[in-house]
Amino acid sequence: MSSPPEIRVLDTPADLFLAAATEFATLASQAVRSQERFSVALSGGSTPKALYTLLASGSVPNIPWEKIFFFFGDERFVPPDHPDSNYRMARETGLFAKVSDDHVFRVRTEGKDADAAALDYEHTLRKFFGLQLGEFPRFDLVFLGLGPDGHTASLFPGTVALNEKRRLVVANWVEKFHSYRITFTLPVLNRAACVMFLVAGADKADIVREVLENGSANLPSQKVRPSDGRLLWLLDRVAGQRLKPDASPTTFSMPEGIP
Ligand code: 6PG
Repeated sequence: MSSPPEIRVLDTPADLFLAAATEFATLASQAVRSQERFSVALSGGSTPKALYTLLASGSVPNIPWEKIFFFFGDERFVPPDHPDSNYRMARETGLFAKVSDDHVFRVRTEGKDADAAALDYEHTLRKFFGLQLGEFPRFDLVFLGLGPDGHTASLFPGTVALNEKRRLVVANWVEKFHSYRITFTLPVLNRAACVMFLVAGADKADIVREVLENGSANLPSQKVRPSDGRLLWLLDRVAGQRLKPDASPTTFSMPEGIP
C-alpha cells in the first residue's frame, strides 16, 4: 500500500534546495549506516541544477560521498557533451567531483541506437543491484521533476513507456521533440525507498494543483506512488500557490540558525 505524499512548501527556491540537500544528506547517512552504500537517481531539466550545485559546494555537512552512487532517471538521446545532456548538466555543477568516476553511471548514448542505449543502461542497473531476471532495483532515492504537461522523468503523456511492466529502462519516442528519451520505467520508480519531486516556479503552479488535487487527471507523475517507500513533494511557494489551503501543507521555511 503506497503511503500518501508528503508535501512541503518552502518559502523561496533557496529554502527549497536547502531542504532537498538536507533530506539527501539524512537519507545518505541512514542508507550508508544500514547498507554501506547510497544509490541515487538524478533528475534532469533545469530545476535540480541549483540543488546539485549546493551539494557540490560542500556547505551541507555530513554527506558520506565515498559511499554514494549516482545514476540518471532519464536522459536525452544525445552525446554526453551535448548542451541537452542531463549528465553534462549535473557534471558541470561539480557534483561528480565529490565522488570517484566509477561511482557515476551515466546513460551511454554514443555509438548506439536508442534501444541499445536503454538496454545497456538496464544491464548496468541489473549488474549494480545484482538482479535476477524479473527482479527490480530498489533505489534509496530517486529525484524527479515535473513538466508542464504532467510528465516526469521521460514518461510523457500518451507515450509507450508508460505501459512498460517488465523493463527497467526503455527508449521512449517523444513526438513533440521528434526524438527518443531514455527513461526509467514506472516499476523502477515505484520500488524506490524514497521518491523526491522537486518543483519550483510559478509556471508550474497549475500542473502542481492538477497532479496533487485532481485524482482523475491520469498524468504520468500521478502514477509515481512508491509501493513501499516515501513520496516527497518539495515545492517552492509560487509552485504551490494554487494548492487548496486545507490540502496544502504548512508553509515551511528553514528554522533560524541553519546556514
Ligand atoms: C528531463 C527531466 C524532466 C524534467 C521536467 C522538468 O530530462 O527533462 O528529467 O522530467 O524533470 O521536464 O524540467 P524543468 O526542471 O526544466 O522544468
